[in-house]
Amino acid sequence: MTTRSTPPPATAPEADLAEAVARRRNFAIISHPDAGKTTLTEKLLLYGGAIQQAGAVKAKGEQRKVTSDWMELEKQRGISITSTVLQFDYSGSTINLLDTPGHQDFSEDTYRTLAAADNAVMLEDAAKGLEPQTRKLFEVCRMRSIPIFTFINKMDRPGRDPLELLDEIEQELGLACWPVNWPIGSGDRFRGVIDRRSRQVILFLRAERGRQSEERVLQIDEAASSGLVEPELLAAALEELELLDGAGSDLDLEAVHRGELSPVFFGSAMTNFGVRPFLDAFLELAQRPIPRQSSTGLVDPLQSGFSGFVFKLQANMDPRHRDRVAFVRVCSGRFEKDMTVQHARTGKSIRLSRPQKLFGQDREVVEDAYPGDVIGLNNPGMFAIGDTLYLGPRVEYEGIPCFSPEIFAWLRNPNPSAFKSFRKGVNELREEGAVQILYDTDQSKRDPILAAVGQLQLEVVQYRLEHEYGVQTRLEPLGFSVARWVSGGWPALEAVGRIFNCKTVRDAWDRPVLLFKNDWNLNQLHEDHPDLGLSSVAPVVS
Ligand code: G4P
Repeated sequence: MTTRSTPPPATAPEADLAEAVARRRNFAIISHPDAGKTTLTEKLLLYGGAIQQAGAVKAKGEQRKVTSDWMELEKQRGISITSTVLQFDYSGSTINLLDTPGHQDFSEDTYRTLAAADNAVMLEDAAKGLEPQTRKLFEVCRMRSIPIFTFINKMDRPGRDPLELLDEIEQELGLACWPVNWPIGSGDRFRGVIDRRSRQVILFLRAERGRQSEERVLQIDEAASSGLVEPELLAAALEELELLDGAGSDLDLEAVHRGELSPVFFGSAMTNFGVRPFLDAFLELAQRPIPRQSSTGLVDPLQSGFSGFVFKLQANMDPRHRDRVAFVRVCSGRFEKDMTVQHARTGKSIRLSRPQKLFGQDREVVEDAYPGDVIGLNNPGMFAIGDTLYLGPRVEYEGIPCFSPEIFAWLRNPNPSAFKSFRKGVNELREEGAVQILYDTDQSKRDPILAAVGQLQLEVVQYRLEHEYGVQTRLEPLGFSVARWVSGGWPALEAVGRIFNCKTVRDAWDRPVLLFKNDWNLNQLHEDHPDLGLSSVAPVVS
């Protein structure tokens, strides 16, 4: 008698999950406005076949689809405030690009997005090198030891000496660099790059107007005899490469993944040169979704139970539905539509019935998602930044810290009859993480103090209070630029007695916060009371 055994399923769920994690790469671009983030994003998407033509990311003027009041503000200011997630497939990988808002007046959203990123691409303008916003965002990456890949852009224009640019990164950021490719010439005479590992020359053939530029991959001697590159430019690039090789050290992938060594690439996003070599090497070297720290230790992405955390909330993306979307970074297991998950903070069960993937301003309902992906959940007010969702044994991810505000203003409500809406709006916007709220220690002064990292954040709060809550407000700037949370709380503060040149306020959790006009006043306090513990970021509330 023959026994019939059940055939194994085509793909076991574990194998499915392992395969999905292995192919995923997730990253955010950090840069200063104008370095070319939008242009690079467009070119990357072209490789993924995700868009048919460049220009779809930042449609201008009439082309821009206005889908909400919110977008209206963006349109008025001609900037992109909302950060979205772009997912595309390329060369066997699934890539999640977390788009960080690119305006100079950036907000805490940019920082929070980095909490959901496994890798960062630091984009520099070859003529400018390191710029202020890049430095700030780099510090956030460093706090989390995120691997950083550097792309030196605009090589088709006159720029600074490549060695000098690397030296600046090493000296000022304390980040070692390992050029994966090296430029041949620059500006008008930018001819291409030499791949350091394969020693192949990737030549850049400028196109006639309106046509895609081309690249040609040659061996060094072929390139030398091709007539496509001036011998002196090739010789100079090879000499510099020898200098770099002579300085020693191989490409140490572990150091890259610890965030201590940055692979560097040169190119020109606008002419689409160097983008493909960058993308190929990035996929090879970038960190795949890694285990994350939680209350119960490291959580492996391959663990079968789904878990993730909320890193961003966005209200009224679509005014027709008055919706609120919570963006969740998937950390472990497979997420499935209609799943009922646990909400760690409240202990409630929640059925996730309409998960969405957002592509630019378009949305589609997702059936499933894997570690490294981001999903948008409709959020009727139950989610807060940093909340953990999970299935199986309880897990709670480390909270996302609030960042040190640098701009402060009283928010006045001139119309007492609108007080209820004013209070509701302020509370909801605080919960959403749109802005930090502080209060005077004098209880009779009930108006909130808005505390932000960028001026735009304050304008957004005012705009939203007016359009979403029907309250017109007035801002009165406060002349402070530095905030510090007192580590030991009120008792520690009382122990030091009177403090000069600073204002004491309290945050929404009644914790003391000191406001200073400048760093000089802060340093004075450090000198007077060296034992007083101060923190530039708000302690995480769990
Ligand atoms: P951002 O998102 O980082 O703010 O920068 P964005 O891509 O909008 O680029 C800023 C400007 O730099 C744009 O010019 C863009 O065309 C240009 N640019 C980007 N990459 C390169 C490059 O590799 N080479 C050169 N030469 N220019 C580059 P714009 O004149 O401000 O806008 P547009 O009218 O060209 O769109």
